[in-house]
Amino acid sequence: MRSSDPTAPLTVGLIFGGDSGEHAVSIRSAATVAAGLRSGANAGRYVLRCFYIDRLGRWWGPELADPVLQQATPASDDQLCGALSAAGIPAERRGQGGFAGLPPAALAVDLWFPVLHGPNGEDGTVQGLFTLMQRPYVGSGVLGSAVGMDKLAMKAAFAAVGLPQVPYAAVDGAEVRRGGASRDALVQRLASQLGYPCFIKPANLGSSVGISKATQASELRDGLELAASLDTRIVVEQGVVARELECAVRGGGARALQASVLGEICFDADWYDYETKYSDGLSHTVIPAQVPEAIAERARSMALDAVQAVAAQGLARVDFFYAEATGELWVNEINTLPGFTSLSMYPMLWAASGIELETLLHELVQGAQEWAQLRAAA
Ligand SMILES: Nc1ncnc2c1ncn2[C@@H]1O[C@H](COP(=O)(O)OP(=O)(O)O)[C@@H](O)[C@H]1O
Ligand SMILES: [Mg+2]
Repeated sequence: MRSSDPTAPLTVGLIFGGDSGEHAVSIRSAATVAAGLRSGANAGRYVLRCFYIDRLGRWWGPELADPVLQQATPASDDQLCGALSAAGIPAERRGQGGFAGLPPAALAVDLWFPVLHGPNGEDGTVQGLFTLMQRPYVGSGVLGSAVGMDKLAMKAAFAAVGLPQVPYAAVDGAEVRRGGASRDALVQRLASQLGYPCFIKPANLGSSVGISKATQASELRDGLELAASLDTRIVVEQGVVARELECAVRGGGARALQASVLGEICFDADWYDYETKYSDGLSHTVIPAQVPEAIAERARSMALDAVQAVAAQGLARVDFFYAEATGELWVNEINTLPGFTSLSMYPMLWAASGIELETLLHELVQGAQEWAQLRAAA
């Protein structure tokens, strides 16, 4: 509980890991956030308590979270075995996953800082738990997180405020799984509506997992089958030839929304797939993006609209496709808990906009506190 002394440091619960495909990235993001919350003036403002969600979705306190953060890699089998026996979990329940209650250290947390990417962390689930606990937390609430995560819900919200997007269609995974003539008719319908190439995406994964590019009917069918094996909700989009720009946003809630300078992702691959994203040397960022000022201004203004459209707040990264030849700019997606590693776009875009990591994190925490006070007073 918050101490009654207003000058006492705030206990911040940093939570990372998670049972999504972005477990390892989350740990690296959390290492950057922890370093920033422990440095300079932040060291006197905040007491950090670390919490780790393992790959099976089990929550652990500092006894496992601290070493995982220090090594900046997921807990080893040996570390997990040790933690399970120290916690007195009987042998027959050691393979059981999922949230089974808060680690005791969680009760001392004044404010939560989730650094979780993907499902069960960025999608409103953890935000719902913090809401039930009546504790402030950094970033979007349940609604903004959930709408921002699901690509179909996100696109509908963007469309409602008139944001330009590439043409797309929503597909029900069940229709794909039924196979046979109805699946073949679906492939035909999508091909005539969107043409080739097109991109097939599970609605709820992230990090390019399960995404395929199709240049003909057999690839479209295979891409739909892959996506349907991972999600019940699928998006198919017309493929565009475009540069990829990103904009960081902060604020909202009780504060004004602000957009950063733009960055560009450059890569030597057909598209920005999982391997290109996470292999050293296959992609690089250019900050600020070398685009006409009018394009940068348009993207910044669209980024603010995108954040408001999905009811996100605190922090978000909004990604764009920019067709240089025609000057067209489309919103691709929003990430409500963007990567925060030392080489991630989000902190780098703010550094290039004159906001250093320490200040950025302090303002995120302050914004979360102010938002909680505003809601309590409402
Ligand atoms: N409609 C499209 N046209 C061209 N490239 C696309 C399209 N959609 C996705 N891509 C490529 O696939 C990558 C991943 O897609 P994205 O929707 O950003 O998924 P994720 O949420 O997994 O990052 C993009 O960065 C881009 O390189
Ligand atoms: Mg993306």
